[in-house]
Amino acid sequence: MTSTKNASPATGNGRRFAPGIRLKLIAFMLPLVFLLIILIAAAVTKIANDVIQRDLLQRGVGISRVVALSSGYSILSGDRLAMDSLTAETKQSSGDIEYVSIRDTEDIVLAHSLIKERGNAYSAPTREKALGTFLETRALEVVRGDKKMIEFSTPIFFTGKRIGTVSLAISRDSILAAQRNIRRSIAIAAAVFLGIAFLGTFAIASFITIPVKKLSSGVIELASGAPFHPIPFRSRDELGELTRNFNRMAETILSQKNRLSRYAKDLEESYIATVQVLSASIDARDPYTLGHSTRVSFLACKLGRKLGCSTEEIEHLEKACLFHDVGKIRTPDEILLKEQRLTAMEIGVMQRHPDNGADILGIAPSLHRYIAVVRYHHEWYNGKGYPEGRKGSEIPIHAQIISLADAFDAMTTSRPYRKALTARGAIEEILRFRGTQFSPELTDVFVRMVEEMPPMEAVNVEPAGWKGMAL
Ligand SMILES: [Fe+2]
Repeated sequence: MTSTKNASPATGNGRRFAPGIRLKLIAFMLPLVFLLIILIAAAVTKIANDVIQRDLLQRGVGISRVVALSSGYSILSGDRLAMDSLTAETKQSSGDIEYVSIRDTEDIVLAHSLIKERGNAYSAPTREKALGTFLETRALEVVRGDKKMIEFSTPIFFTGKRIGTVSLAISRDSILAAQRNIRRSIAIAAAVFLGIAFLGTFAIASFITIPVKKLSSGVIELASGAPFHPIPFRSRDELGELTRNFNRMAETILSQKNRLSRYAKDLEESYIATVQVLSASIDARDPYTLGHSTRVSFLACKLGRKLGCSTEEIEHLEKACLFHDVGKIRTPDEILLKEQRLTAMEIGVMQRHPDNGADILGIAPSLHRYIAVVRYHHEWYNGKGYPEGRKGSEIPIHAQIISLADAFDAMTTSRPYRKALTARGAIEEILRFRGTQFSPELTDVFVRMVEEMPPMEAVNVEPAGWKGMAL
Protein backbone atom coordinates (compact mmCIF):
# COMPACT_ATOMS: atom_id res chain seq x y z
CA MET A 1 0.00 0.00 0.00
CA THR A 2 1.09 3.56 -0.62
CA SER A 3 -0.27 7.01 -0.34
CA THR A 4 2.14 8.72 -2.67
CA LYS A 5 3.17 7.77 -6.13
CA ASN A 6 6.22 8.87 -8.01
CA ALA A 7 5.33 10.18 -11.43
CA SER A 8 7.88 9.14 -13.97
CA PRO A 9 8.83 11.72 -16.57
CA ALA A 10 7.41 11.21 -20.03
CA THR A 11 9.83 9.72 -22.46
CA GLY A 12 9.81 10.34 -26.19
CA ASN A 13 9.17 6.91 -27.60
CA GLY A 14 8.03 8.28 -30.95
CA ARG A 15 11.36 9.87 -31.74
CA ARG A 16 11.94 10.17 -35.45
CA PHE A 17 15.10 8.80 -37.03
CA ALA A 18 17.79 11.44 -37.26
CA PRO A 19 21.09 10.66 -39.00
CA GLY A 20 24.07 10.90 -36.67
CA ILE A 21 27.33 12.71 -37.27
CA ARG A 22 28.99 9.46 -38.35
CA LEU A 23 26.37 8.81 -41.04
CA LYS A 24 26.50 12.43 -42.20
CA LEU A 25 30.30 12.38 -42.44
CA ILE A 26 30.26 9.10 -44.35
CA ALA A 27 27.47 10.34 -46.65
CA PHE A 28 29.40 13.56 -47.30
CA MET A 29 32.96 12.23 -47.51
CA LEU A 30 32.47 9.00 -49.43
CA PRO A 31 30.96 10.53 -52.62
CA LEU A 32 33.81 13.07 -52.66
CA VAL A 33 36.43 10.37 -52.20
CA PHE A 34 34.68 8.18 -54.77
CA LEU A 35 34.63 11.04 -57.29
CA LEU A 36 38.28 11.81 -56.61
CA ILE A 37 39.27 8.17 -57.11
CA ILE A 38 37.26 7.96 -60.36
CA LEU A 39 38.96 11.12 -61.69
CA ILE A 40 42.40 9.86 -60.70
CA ALA A 41 41.67 6.46 -62.25
CA ALA A 42 40.49 8.09 -65.50
CA ALA A 43 43.57 10.31 -65.65
CA VAL A 44 45.93 7.41 -64.93
CA THR A 45 44.17 5.27 -67.57
CA LYS A 46 44.52 8.02 -70.15
CA ILE A 47 48.20 8.51 -69.34
CA ALA A 48 48.81 4.74 -69.42
CA ASN A 49 47.05 4.40 -72.78
CA ASP A 50 49.11 7.24 -74.23
CA VAL A 51 52.32 5.68 -72.91
CA ILE A 52 51.40 2.27 -74.35
CA GLN A 53 50.56 3.78 -77.73
CA ARG A 54 53.71 5.92 -77.78
CA ASP A 55 55.85 2.90 -76.92
CA LEU A 56 54.26 0.92 -79.70
CA LEU A 57 54.75 3.75 -82.19
CA GLN A 58 58.40 4.12 -81.17
CA ARG A 59 58.94 0.38 -81.48
CA GLY A 60 57.20 0.19 -84.88
CA VAL A 61 59.07 3.23 -86.22
CA GLY A 62 62.36 1.80 -84.99
CA ILE A 63 61.87 -1.65 -86.52
CA SER A 64 60.59 -0.18 -89.78
CA ARG A 65 63.62 2.10 -90.07
CA VAL A 66 66.00 -0.73 -89.32
CA VAL A 67 64.41 -2.86 -92.09
CA ALA A 68 64.54 0.14 -94.48
CA LEU A 69 68.22 0.71 -93.76
CA SER A 70 69.00 -3.01 -94.10
CA SER A 71 67.16 -3.55 -97.35
CA GLY A 72 68.64 -0.75 -99.57
CA TYR A 73 71.60 -2.70 -100.88
CA SER A 74 69.50 -5.85 -101.40
CA ILE A 75 67.02 -3.92 -103.55
CA LEU A 76 69.77 -2.48 -105.76
CA SER A 77 71.53 -5.81 -106.05
CA GLY A 78 68.23 -7.68 -106.59
CA ASP A 79 69.04 -10.03 -103.72
CA ARG A 80 65.52 -11.29 -103.07
CA LEU A 81 66.77 -14.03 -100.77
CA ALA A 82 68.23 -11.44 -98.44
CA MET A 83 65.03 -9.42 -98.54
CA ASP A 84 62.91 -12.54 -97.85
CA SER A 85 65.16 -13.46 -94.99
CA LEU A 86 64.96 -9.91 -93.62
CA THR A 87 61.14 -9.75 -93.72
CA ALA A 88 60.73 -13.28 -92.28
CA GLU A 89 63.18 -12.72 -89.42
CA THR A 90 61.66 -9.34 -88.63
CA LYS A 91 58.19 -10.90 -88.56
CA GLN A 92 59.42 -13.61 -86.20
CA SER A 93 61.18 -11.15 -83.93
CA SER A 94 57.92 -10.12 -82.27
CA GLY A 95 54.62 -11.94 -81.92
CA ASP A 96 52.47 -8.86 -82.56
CA ILE A 97 54.02 -8.05 -85.98
CA GLU A 98 51.40 -8.93 -88.58
CA TYR A 99 53.52 -8.55 -91.68
CA VAL A 100 56.64 -6.93 -93.12
CA SER A 101 56.92 -6.02 -96.78
CA ILE A 102 59.44 -4.38 -99.05
CA ARG A 103 58.25 -2.85 -102.28
CA ASP A 104 59.83 -0.88 -105.03
CA THR A 105 59.02 2.61 -106.19
CA GLU A 106 56.25 1.18 -108.38
CA ASP A 107 54.60 -0.32 -105.20
CA ILE A 108 55.32 -3.86 -106.45
CA VAL A 109 56.01 -6.12 -103.48
CA LEU A 110 59.59 -7.37 -103.68
CA ALA A 111 59.57 -9.27 -100.39
CA HIS A 112 56.85 -10.07 -97.87
CA SER A 113 56.59 -12.09 -94.72
CA LEU A 114 53.62 -13.76 -96.41
CA ILE A 115 55.10 -15.48 -99.40
CA LYS A 116 51.87 -15.28 -101.44
CA GLU A 117 52.07 -11.49 -101.47
CA ARG A 118 55.43 -11.42 -103.29
CA GLY A 119 55.25 -9.90 -106.76
CA ASN A 120 51.78 -8.42 -106.16
CA ALA A 121 51.00 -4.77 -106.25
CA TYR A 122 50.72 -3.14 -102.86
CA SER A 123 47.06 -3.26 -101.75
CA ALA A 124 45.88 -0.22 -99.79
CA PRO A 125 44.08 -0.96 -96.49
CA THR A 126 40.32 -0.37 -96.23
CA ARG A 127 40.33 2.23 -93.46
CA GLU A 128 43.06 4.60 -92.57
CA LYS A 129 43.66 7.01 -89.77
CA ALA A 130 46.88 8.95 -89.64
CA LEU A 131 48.68 8.66 -86.30
CA GLY A 132 51.56 10.89 -87.29
CA THR A 133 54.86 11.02 -89.12
CA PHE A 134 58.06 10.31 -87.22
CA LEU A 135 61.12 11.39 -89.26
CA GLU A 136 60.35 9.77 -92.64
CA THR A 137 58.13 7.04 -91.21
CA ARG A 138 54.38 7.48 -91.46
CA ALA A 139 52.09 5.65 -89.00
CA LEU A 140 48.53 4.79 -89.96
CA GLU A 141 45.80 2.99 -88.12
CA VAL A 142 44.41 0.57 -90.71
CA VAL A 143 42.00 -2.31 -91.06
CA ARG A 144 42.88 -5.35 -93.13
CA GLY A 145 40.21 -7.97 -93.28
CA ASP A 146 38.72 -7.93 -89.78
CA LYS A 147 41.93 -6.98 -88.06
CA LYS A 148 42.91 -3.57 -86.74
CA MET A 149 46.60 -2.80 -86.96
CA ILE A 150 49.08 0.04 -87.15
CA GLU A 151 51.05 0.18 -90.34
CA PHE A 152 54.43 1.91 -90.46
CA SER A 153 55.69 2.96 -93.91
CA THR A 154 59.32 4.02 -94.22
CA PRO A 155 60.86 5.08 -97.51
CA ILE A 156 64.09 3.32 -98.52
CA PHE A 157 66.87 5.63 -99.66
CA PHE A 158 70.21 4.69 -101.13
CA THR A 159 72.75 7.41 -101.78
CA GLY A 160 69.98 9.96 -101.39
CA LYS A 161 67.65 8.37 -103.92
CA ARG A 162 64.40 6.73 -102.97
CA ILE A 163 64.37 3.14 -104.18
CA GLY A 164 61.43 1.61 -102.32
CA THR A 165 59.28 1.43 -99.22
CA VAL A 166 59.13 -0.79 -96.16
CA SER A 167 55.70 -1.44 -94.66
CA LEU A 168 55.45 -3.07 -91.25
CA ALA A 169 52.15 -3.72 -89.46
CA ILE A 170 51.73 -4.32 -85.72
CA SER A 171 48.46 -5.69 -84.39
CA ARG A 172 46.39 -3.35 -82.24
CA ASP A 173 45.34 -6.34 -80.15
CA SER A 174 48.51 -6.01 -78.13
CA ILE A 175 47.66 -2.40 -77.33
CA LEU A 176 44.11 -3.33 -76.44
CA ALA A 177 45.32 -6.22 -74.25
CA ALA A 178 47.82 -3.93 -72.52
CA GLN A 179 45.15 -1.30 -72.03
CA ARG A 180 42.76 -3.90 -70.62
CA ASN A 181 45.44 -5.02 -68.16
CA ILE A 182 46.06 -1.44 -67.12
CA ARG A 183 42.35 -0.74 -66.69
CA ARG A 184 41.91 -3.88 -64.58
CA SER A 185 44.88 -2.96 -62.40
CA ILE A 186 43.59 0.59 -61.98
CA ALA A 187 40.08 -0.68 -61.15
CA ILE A 188 41.49 -3.01 -58.47
CA ALA A 189 43.61 -0.18 -57.06
CA ALA A 190 40.58 2.15 -57.08
CA ALA A 191 38.45 -0.44 -55.25
CA VAL A 192 41.19 -0.90 -52.65
CA PHE A 193 41.51 2.85 -52.21
CA LEU A 194 37.74 3.19 -51.95
CA GLY A 195 37.67 0.52 -49.23
CA ILE A 196 40.50 2.25 -47.38
CA ALA A 197 38.70 5.57 -47.81
CA PHE A 198 35.50 4.06 -46.36
CA LEU A 199 37.35 2.62 -43.36
CA GLY A 200 39.27 5.87 -42.95
CA THR A 201 36.09 7.93 -43.05
CA PHE A 202 34.45 5.55 -40.58
CA ALA A 203 37.47 5.81 -38.28
CA ILE A 204 37.52 9.62 -38.49
CA ALA A 205 33.77 9.77 -37.89
CA SER A 206 34.13 7.42 -34.90
CA PHE A 207 37.00 9.51 -33.59
CA ILE A 208 34.58 12.45 -33.43
CA THR A 209 31.33 10.69 -32.53
CA ILE A 210 32.54 8.40 -29.73
CA PRO A 211 33.60 11.30 -27.44
CA VAL A 212 30.42 13.19 -28.38
CA LYS A 213 28.30 10.15 -27.48
CA LYS A 214 30.13 9.79 -24.17
CA LEU A 215 29.43 13.44 -23.45
CA SER A 216 25.78 12.96 -24.35
CA SER A 217 25.54 9.94 -21.98
CA GLY A 218 27.25 12.02 -19.29
CA VAL A 219 24.66 14.80 -19.68
CA ILE A 220 21.80 12.25 -19.43
CA GLU A 221 23.44 10.67 -16.37
CA LEU A 222 23.87 14.07 -14.78
CA ALA A 223 20.27 15.06 -15.54
CA SER A 224 18.86 11.77 -14.24
CA GLY A 225 20.42 12.28 -10.84
CA ALA A 226 22.23 8.93 -11.01
CA PRO A 227 25.76 8.81 -9.52
CA PHE A 228 27.97 10.64 -12.01
CA HIS A 229 31.19 9.06 -13.21
CA PRO A 230 33.73 11.38 -14.84
CA ILE A 231 34.10 10.67 -18.57
CA PRO A 232 37.55 9.24 -19.33
CA PHE A 233 39.61 10.99 -22.01
CA ARG A 234 43.12 10.56 -23.37
CA SER A 235 43.49 13.03 -26.21
CA ARG A 236 44.67 16.58 -25.63
CA ASP A 237 42.84 17.95 -28.66
CA GLU A 238 39.64 20.04 -28.68
CA LEU A 239 37.46 17.01 -27.88
CA GLY A 240 39.70 16.07 -24.96
CA GLU A 241 39.53 19.67 -23.71
CA LEU A 242 35.74 19.63 -24.09
CA THR A 243 35.49 16.39 -22.08
CA ARG A 244 37.78 17.73 -19.37
CA ASN A 245 35.71 20.91 -19.10
CA PHE A 246 32.49 18.89 -19.03
CA ASN A 247 33.81 16.81 -16.11
CA ARG A 248 34.71 19.99 -14.25
CA MET A 249 31.29 21.49 -14.98
CA ALA A 250 29.54 18.29 -13.81
CA GLU A 251 31.54 18.31 -10.57
CA THR A 252 30.61 21.95 -9.99
CA ILE A 253 26.94 21.27 -10.72
CA LEU A 254 26.89 18.24 -8.41
CA SER A 255 28.64 20.17 -5.67
CA GLN A 256 26.14 23.03 -5.96
CA LYS A 257 23.25 20.57 -6.20
CA ASN A 258 24.38 18.84 -3.00
CA ARG A 259 24.70 22.19 -1.29
CA LEU A 260 21.25 23.23 -2.47
CA SER A 261 19.84 19.86 -1.35
CA ARG A 262 21.33 20.42 2.09
CA TYR A 263 19.86 23.92 2.21
CA ALA A 264 16.47 22.62 1.04
CA LYS A 265 16.59 19.82 3.63
CA ASP A 266 17.55 22.29 6.37
CA LEU A 267 14.77 24.59 5.25
CA GLU A 268 12.25 21.76 5.16
CA GLU A 269 13.32 20.56 8.59
CA SER A 270 13.01 24.12 9.78
CA TYR A 271 9.46 24.36 8.36
CA ILE A 272 8.55 21.00 9.85
CA ALA A 273 10.00 21.98 13.23
CA THR A 274 7.99 25.20 13.13
CA VAL A 275 4.75 23.38 12.39
CA GLN A 276 5.60 20.76 15.02
CA VAL A 277 6.08 23.51 17.56
CA LEU A 278 2.79 24.97 16.40
CA SER A 279 1.05 21.60 16.82
CA ALA A 280 2.62 21.02 20.21
CA SER A 281 1.47 24.47 21.32
CA ILE A 282 -2.09 23.59 20.29
CA ASP A 283 -1.90 20.39 22.31
CA ALA A 284 -0.51 22.43 25.19
CA ARG A 285 -3.39 24.95 25.02
CA ASP A 286 -5.68 22.23 26.25
CA PRO A 287 -4.36 20.21 29.21
CA TYR A 288 -6.69 17.39 28.16
CA THR A 289 -5.00 17.02 24.73
CA LEU A 290 -1.42 17.45 25.89
CA GLY A 291 0.74 14.96 23.94
CA HIS A 292 -2.22 14.00 21.70
CA SER A 293 -0.38 14.45 18.42
CA THR A 294 2.60 12.43 19.62
CA ARG A 295 0.38 9.55 20.79
CA VAL A 296 -1.56 9.62 17.53
CA SER A 297 1.74 9.49 15.68
CA PHE A 298 2.87 6.48 17.74
CA LEU A 299 -0.34 4.54 17.08
CA ALA A 300 -0.60 5.50 13.38
CA CYS A 301 3.01 4.55 12.64
CA LYS A 302 2.54 1.24 14.43
CA LEU A 303 -0.55 0.57 12.33
CA GLY A 304 1.30 1.69 9.19
CA ARG A 305 4.05 -0.83 9.88
CA LYS A 306 1.41 -3.55 10.42
CA LEU A 307 -0.02 -2.67 7.02
CA GLY A 308 3.39 -3.02 5.36
CA CYS A 309 4.16 0.64 4.69
CA SER A 310 7.68 1.44 3.59
CA THR A 311 10.10 3.37 5.78
CA GLU A 312 9.53 6.42 3.65
CA GLU A 313 5.75 6.13 4.05
CA ILE A 314 6.08 5.71 7.81
CA GLU A 315 8.17 8.89 7.98
CA HIS A 316 5.51 10.69 5.95
CA LEU A 317 2.77 9.33 8.21
CA GLU A 318 4.62 10.33 11.37
CA LYS A 319 4.95 13.95 10.27
CA ALA A 320 1.36 14.08 9.00
CA CYS A 321 0.22 12.91 12.47
CA LEU A 322 2.20 15.65 14.18
CA PHE A 323 0.55 18.22 11.89
CA HIS A 324 -2.94 16.77 11.70
CA ASP A 325 -4.60 19.25 14.09
CA VAL A 326 -2.41 22.28 13.32
CA GLY A 327 -5.52 24.03 11.97
CA LYS A 328 -6.83 24.30 15.52
CA ILE A 329 -4.48 27.26 15.95
CA ARG A 330 -7.32 29.28 14.39
CA THR A 331 -9.95 27.82 16.71
CA PRO A 332 -10.81 30.30 19.47
CA ASP A 333 -9.94 29.28 23.03
CA GLU A 334 -13.54 29.66 24.13
CA ILE A 335 -14.45 26.83 21.76
CA LEU A 336 -11.28 24.74 21.93
CA LEU A 337 -11.12 24.84 25.71
CA LYS A 338 -14.85 24.86 26.41
CA GLU A 339 -15.68 22.40 29.13
CA GLN A 340 -19.36 22.20 28.27
CA ARG A 341 -20.83 20.46 25.29
CA LEU A 342 -20.32 22.48 22.08
CA THR A 343 -23.24 24.10 20.32
CA ALA A 344 -23.97 23.35 16.67
CA MET A 345 -22.36 26.63 15.64
CA GLU A 346 -19.29 25.90 17.76
CA ILE A 347 -19.03 22.43 16.26
CA GLY A 348 -19.08 24.08 12.81
CA VAL A 349 -16.19 26.34 13.82
CA MET A 350 -14.34 23.36 15.27
CA GLN A 351 -14.84 21.37 12.08
CA ARG A 352 -13.02 24.00 10.07
CA HIS A 353 -9.68 22.92 11.52
CA PRO A 354 -8.82 20.38 8.73
CA ASP A 355 -9.18 23.09 6.06
CA ASN A 356 -7.37 25.59 8.27
CA GLY A 357 -4.55 23.07 8.73
CA ALA A 358 -4.37 22.52 4.95
CA ASP A 359 -4.14 26.30 4.44
CA ILE A 360 -1.29 26.58 6.94
CA LEU A 361 0.65 23.75 5.31
CA GLY A 362 0.02 25.33 1.91
CA ILE A 363 2.29 28.24 2.84
CA ALA A 364 5.41 26.05 2.59
CA PRO A 365 5.89 24.01 -0.62
CA SER A 366 7.87 21.37 1.29
CA LEU A 367 4.76 20.67 3.43
CA HIS A 368 2.33 20.35 0.52
CA ARG A 369 2.59 16.58 0.53
CA TYR A 370 0.89 16.48 3.96
CA ILE A 371 -2.07 18.64 2.96
CA ALA A 372 -4.36 15.83 1.73
CA VAL A 373 -3.86 13.79 4.91
CA VAL A 374 -4.49 16.79 7.17
CA ARG A 375 -7.54 17.92 5.20
CA TYR A 376 -9.23 14.50 5.15
CA HIS A 377 -8.40 13.02 8.58
CA HIS A 378 -12.01 13.57 9.72
CA GLU A 379 -13.67 12.02 6.65
CA TRP A 380 -15.77 8.93 7.33
CA TYR A 381 -15.57 5.69 5.41
CA ASN A 382 -19.30 5.96 4.59
CA GLY A 383 -19.02 9.56 3.37
CA LYS A 384 -20.63 11.15 6.44
CA GLY A 385 -17.48 12.89 7.65
CA TYR A 386 -16.13 16.36 6.93
CA PRO A 387 -15.02 18.64 5.32
CA GLU A 388 -15.95 17.14 1.90
CA GLY A 389 -17.87 13.98 2.68
CA ARG A 390 -15.43 11.75 0.84
CA LYS A 391 -15.85 8.04 1.23
CA GLY A 392 -13.97 4.75 0.84
CA SER A 393 -10.90 4.88 -1.34
CA GLU A 394 -11.46 8.60 -1.99
CA ILE A 395 -9.95 9.18 1.44
CA PRO A 396 -6.13 8.96 1.45
CA ILE A 397 -5.02 5.81 3.28
CA HIS A 398 -2.82 7.80 5.66
CA ALA A 399 -5.84 9.95 6.58
CA GLN A 400 -7.83 6.76 7.33
CA ILE A 401 -4.98 5.49 9.55
CA ILE A 402 -4.80 8.81 11.43
CA SER A 403 -8.57 8.80 11.84
CA LEU A 404 -8.38 5.49 13.76
CA ALA A 405 -5.40 6.53 15.90
CA ASP A 406 -6.97 9.95 16.57
CA ALA A 407 -10.27 8.44 17.67
CA PHE A 408 -8.59 5.84 19.88
CA ASP A 409 -6.45 8.44 21.64
CA ALA A 410 -9.41 10.80 22.06
CA MET A 411 -11.43 8.04 23.67
CA THR A 412 -8.67 6.85 25.98
CA THR A 413 -7.97 10.32 27.35
CA SER A 414 -10.30 12.25 29.60
CA ARG A 415 -12.28 15.29 28.48
CA PRO A 416 -13.97 17.88 30.67
CA TYR A 417 -17.37 16.44 29.79
CA ARG A 418 -16.43 12.75 30.03
CA LYS A 419 -13.85 10.41 31.46
CA ALA A 420 -11.48 8.31 29.41
CA LEU A 421 -12.41 4.88 28.15
CA THR A 422 -10.21 1.86 28.74
CA ALA A 423 -8.45 0.42 25.73
CA ARG A 424 -11.09 -2.35 25.62
CA GLY A 425 -13.87 0.20 25.77
CA ALA A 426 -12.28 2.25 23.00
CA ILE A 427 -11.87 -0.89 20.89
CA GLU A 428 -15.54 -1.72 21.31
CA GLU A 429 -16.50 1.78 20.25
CA ILE A 430 -14.23 1.60 17.23
CA LEU A 431 -15.74 -1.75 16.28
CA ARG A 432 -19.18 -0.13 16.62
CA PHE A 433 -18.12 2.31 13.91
CA ARG A 434 -16.49 -0.36 11.70
CA GLY A 435 -17.71 0.16 8.14
CA THR A 436 -19.30 3.55 8.92
CA GLN A 437 -16.59 5.83 10.23
CA PHE A 438 -13.68 3.46 9.72
CA SER A 439 -12.56 1.15 6.92
CA PRO A 440 -13.47 -2.45 7.90
CA GLU A 441 -10.07 -3.80 6.86
CA LEU A 442 -8.10 -1.11 8.70
CA THR A 443 -10.33 -1.45 11.75
CA ASP A 444 -9.60 -5.18 12.00
CA VAL A 445 -5.84 -4.67 11.75
CA PHE A 446 -5.96 -1.78 14.23
CA VAL A 447 -8.01 -3.74 16.77
CA ARG A 448 -5.63 -6.73 16.55
CA MET A 449 -2.71 -4.36 16.97
CA VAL A 450 -4.15 -2.69 20.09
CA GLU A 451 -5.05 -6.06 21.58
CA GLU A 452 -1.45 -7.19 21.15
CA MET A 453 -0.13 -4.01 22.78
CA PRO A 454 0.75 -3.83 26.52
CA PRO A 455 -2.25 -2.82 28.72
CA MET A 456 -3.09 0.87 28.50
CA GLU A 457 -3.50 3.01 31.61
CA ALA A 458 -6.57 1.91 33.53
CA VAL A 459 -9.23 4.61 33.66
CA ASN A 460 -12.89 4.82 34.51
CA VAL A 461 -15.27 3.62 31.86
CA GLU A 462 -18.10 5.96 31.11
CA PRO A 463 -18.92 5.36 27.44
CA ALA A 464 -22.19 7.27 27.75
CA GLY A 465 -20.31 10.52 27.75
CA TRP A 466 -18.64 9.87 24.50
CA LYS A 467 -20.61 10.51 21.33
CA GLY A 468 -18.26 9.36 18.66
CA MET A 469 -15.05 10.65 17.37
CA ALA A 470 -12.56 13.23 18.43
CA LEU A 471 -13.19 16.65 17.02
FE1 LIG B 1 -8.53 16.65 14.12
